[in-house]
Amino acid sequence: MSTKIQDILNKTDFSKQDIVTLLNTDKNERQFIFNKANEVKKEFVGLKTYYRGLVEFSNECNKNCYYCGIRAANKDVNRYDISDEQILESVKFAYENKYASVVFQAGERDDIEFIDRIENLLKKAKQITENKIGITISLGEQSLETYKKWHIAGAHRYLLRIETTNKELYYKIHPNNNKHNFEKRLKALEAIKEAGYQTGTGVMIGLPFQTYEHLADDLLFFQKFDIDMVGMGPYIEHTETPLYEHKDILLPLTDRFDLSMKMIAILRIMMKDINIAAATALQAIDPIGREKALKVGANIIMPNITPTINRENYQLYENKPCIDEGAEDCTTCLEARIVIAGDDLGYDAWGDSPHFIKRQQK
Ligand code: 5AD
Ligand code: SF4
Ligand code: FES
Repeated sequence: MSTKIQDILNKTDFSKQDIVTLLNTDKNERQFIFNKANEVKKEFVGLKTYYRGLVEFSNECNKNCYYCGIRAANKDVNRYDISDEQILESVKFAYENKYASVVFQAGERDDIEFIDRIENLLKKAKQITENKIGITISLGEQSLETYKKWHIAGAHRYLLRIETTNKELYYKIHPNNNKHNFEKRLKALEAIKEAGYQTGTGVMIGLPFQTYEHLADDLLFFQKFDIDMVGMGPYIEHTETPLYEHKDILLPLTDRFDLSMKMIAILRIMMKDINIAAATALQAIDPIGREKALKVGANIIMPNITPTINRENYQLYENKPCIDEGAEDCTTCLEARIVIAGDDLGYDAWGDSPHFIKRQQK
């Protein structure tokens, strides 16, 4: 290995330039980053993968992110909203299959009807699982009051991807208006932390106009913010979105995939005890993309347990995997995959981020 990479990997803290150098490594050199990341994973969080059953319960969204297939302005989408009964069925499935945790995700809404519904749903999900199921929510930007309400009702982790920490790039991939505002998004992330959640964020990798410097800043942001969980994955263009017009300046998909692997591995080395998800978008590029991510530092997988009839309508990007499979299919399939990746399954365990536990004890 070149001494330069070795010197960086031996450091306790990476500078922005160090991260850029690591992101620039070639196929031979990057293996050293991957190996180190796997060692760190083993030592600090164990060679274990935790499941979070993902329920994408509605694709109704009142926002217009330029990259997303279910943005409000896309009239080609069949909108759906799964009933509470059906969502609770999925929760039961997860619980009976020892997933121990579920994620509720949907397009963004902040009307009072929605807020109350979620509060009620969270309480019910807890009730039907003897208070045992762990609940992560990913329901966008809300007020501190709403975040607190949902936390009290039973959700204990929240995911809100910052998408990019570079303000200029943020406005290249979002409209610039009251609904899409960089400062507001940052404030929302702070409010999530304040409300007491294990706080998760993330970015898309390989966006048009994105540089290695931007990505290095993203990783440093996670560290400075003292985040508990990260989910980040490749940007995958969707034809029915405004950002598609920049498809010609994108990195090839395989490069976006490789860059995502490096981002995950570098982050594991930087933030040793956080939870890092192997994003589903990785599998849209490589059939064993998520398993590869587990080898380089990721420790969370979110099997899709959304009722199959709704899956094809939740396509934020194209080529999304597991559209035709049912929850059972994904469970069996993933079990085999994780064992092949060399990890144990953290069944029946919440698998909270050790980082969060330490943060609370401070
Ligand atoms: N490619 C990859 N990820 C996407 N997301 C939305 N659209 C895309 C896309 N085209 C991600 C965003 C969002 C999460 C729910 O899905 O990061 O936060
Ligand atoms: Fe809505 Fe989320 Fe898609 Fe943005 S990324 S349009 S908030 S579902
Ligand atoms: Fe869904 Fe393999 S994980 S079919």
